[in-house]
Amino acid sequence: MECNVRPDNMERITTKALADAFIEEQIAAVRAQVGDKKVLLALSGGVDSSVVAALLIKAIGKQLICVHVNHGLMRKGESEAVIEMFGKELDANLIYVDATDRFLDLLAGVSDPERKRKIIGAEFINVFADEARKLDGVDFLAQGTIYPDILESIKQAEGKKAVKSHHNVGGLPEDLKFDLVEPIKLLFKDEVRVVGEALGLPHAMVYRQPFPGPGLGVRCLGAITRDRLHALREADAILREEFDKNGLAEKVWQYFITVPDIKSVGVKDDSRYEGWPAIIRAVNTTDAMTATIEEIPYPILHHITYRITNEVDGINRVLFDLTPKPCGTIEWE
Ligand code: XMP
Repeated sequence: MECNVRPDNMERITTKALADAFIEEQIAAVRAQVGDKKVLLALSGGVDSSVVAALLIKAIGKQLICVHVNHGLMRKGESEAVIEMFGKELDANLIYVDATDRFLDLLAGVSDPERKRKIIGAEFINVFADEARKLDGVDFLAQGTIYPDILESIKQAEGKKAVKSHHNVGGLPEDLKFDLVEPIKLLFKDEVRVVGEALGLPHAMVYRQPFPGPGLGVRCLGAITRDRLHALREADAILREEFDKNGLAEKVWQYFITVPDIKSVGVKDDSRYEGWPAIIRAVNTTDAMTATIEEIPYPILHHITYRITNEVDGINRVLFDLTPKPCGTIEWE
């Protein structure tokens, strides 16, 4: 029988030696489970799916088929990093799907946050299912399920309501029946990171800050437009670069830019210049249920403001969100 409960005596994976032992154990288990069959994996580039990919590449090599769906809502450079790491460096069987137009066409004019989330989640499954149907002889689906996901499902099964609808690739259509391979499902996040490093994944990938499934879609507030999405992506890249440079990336749990669908009057080159504000959010938390605001030194904020307003077309103000959770959620949508 499948075990979805972490045994009380399961040792916490905190060292490379423990991680190596876990990896060896899972390699044997995966080989025993799948034999010479093929395994499909939706590889977002997040910590969990990346660790599963690296583990399965070690265990079954080219029997693993990774599908990376670029929904057009990734951060700057993110899909490229997945292709570089998994397609090139680890020489994985990687299918890259640029579905930007599919997603952005469906989202055009949609401003309700929950509808946006539902559209992105459903279309993600459609694109992934389209790719799966093109492949022959795949029997297994690998997933980066981790233990908090299992605990969350138990909570929801007990009737506790989620504040926002999160998505994963759980709900595939009826015609696609796969057995699941979930090698990290009994691990907590910190353990997944230790395993990722032991597998040789880069530190930046393993300690990547959390990024929501609907991506920049929930940070480009209201109805998404390509020009505002572009401005958001560029501003976010500057924020991340400056946080990296100033040692804040390691210190702050999550930091990002949100761009609302409002314009204010500004001035540039002695002329009226209407633009969107870029809102910085920088929070610390242990479980994302509550969050506090990180105090960012003013000189750093000034420099980020200077860079964003000078380098990003369409942005003419920078604001800092001081709201803890509660009462604000971490994401604005
Ligand atoms: P909120 O906004 O609910 O976010 O305070 C809590 C944490 O969850 C992340 N988040 C998501 N993660 N799929 C995910 O995997 C999603 O749809 C999603 N929405 C929010 C958010 O970035 C924060 O870390």
